[in-house]
Amino acid sequence: MRLALFGPPGAGKGTQASRLVDRYDLTHISTGNLLRAAVRARTPLGREAAPYLDAGRLVPSDLVRRLAEEAIAAHEFDDFILDGYPRTVEQADWLASFLERHEAPLDAVLCLHVPYHAIVERLSKRRVHEPTGAVYHLDFNPPPPSVDPATLIQRSDDRPEAIAKRLEVYARETQPVQAFYRARGLSKDIVGVGRVREVAARLDGVVIRIAQRRRAAVAAPLPEAS
Ligand code: AP5
Repeated sequence: MRLALFGPPGAGKGTQASRLVDRYDLTHISTGNLLRAAVRARTPLGREAAPYLDAGRLVPSDLVRRLAEEAIAAHEFDDFILDGYPRTVEQADWLASFLERHEAPLDAVLCLHVPYHAIVERLSKRRVHEPTGAVYHLDFNPPPPSVDPATLIQRSDDRPEAIAKRLEVYARETQPVQAFYRARGLSKDIVGVGRVREVAARLDGVVIRIAQRRRAAVAAPLPEAS
């Protein structure tokens, strides 16, 4: 399956992607994770991207495009879930032509809907386990007792001013991407509020149908040539 998870910052894309990856044997391609890894490794791309990440602004599209396309190609154009890409209509257009050239169109774009007040609550108490990258929430998804609190960090863009900037950028530049996919019949709306497992069950309902449709398309005999 070729899927993309779409939604505002803090909607739970990363949390749900980790689960879908295990359940459906997919590769998680998160442009945010790839960018943060480049920043940590101090690569030229990472040095260029760092100020944008810290400020909650979008990293220039040509840099992100390279990361996303390399990751998709490295996973042979199938069995992946994109998280955080595409984030502008321009990126969505590039992705569509890139995948078309490789005869690997997206099967669906899963759009998580979460109101802004819930997003701020989620992001302000998010903590990341530095050694593994596991994502927790101090109240809703607390780390197990085996995790040393000293190894939990707060992302630099989870400060209140960066959260506000990210939400503003999302409304202006990213939200229109949903209309792009709706017009192509690929957008699937999912309510992102409720417990993690409740959202996961809603996603499962949609993803299972997509998987069945794909299986049926492969099994269907090709029409006779005229
Ligand atoms: P990125 O890493 O993609 O960040 P984001 O889209 O802002 O999303 P987040 O990672 O903040 O949230 P999420 O939806 O994954 O939520 P999570 O599961 O963690 O991008 C970061 C930056 O990189 C961007 O600002 C930009 O600078 C750059 N970038 C990336 N892609 C780019 C692109 N294509 N173009 C240009 N620039 C790009 O959950 C959040 C919290 O809520 C956690 O604490 C979690 O435990 C908790 N939680 C999850 N689900 C629930 C639930 N159901 N109930 C209660 N709490 C929950």
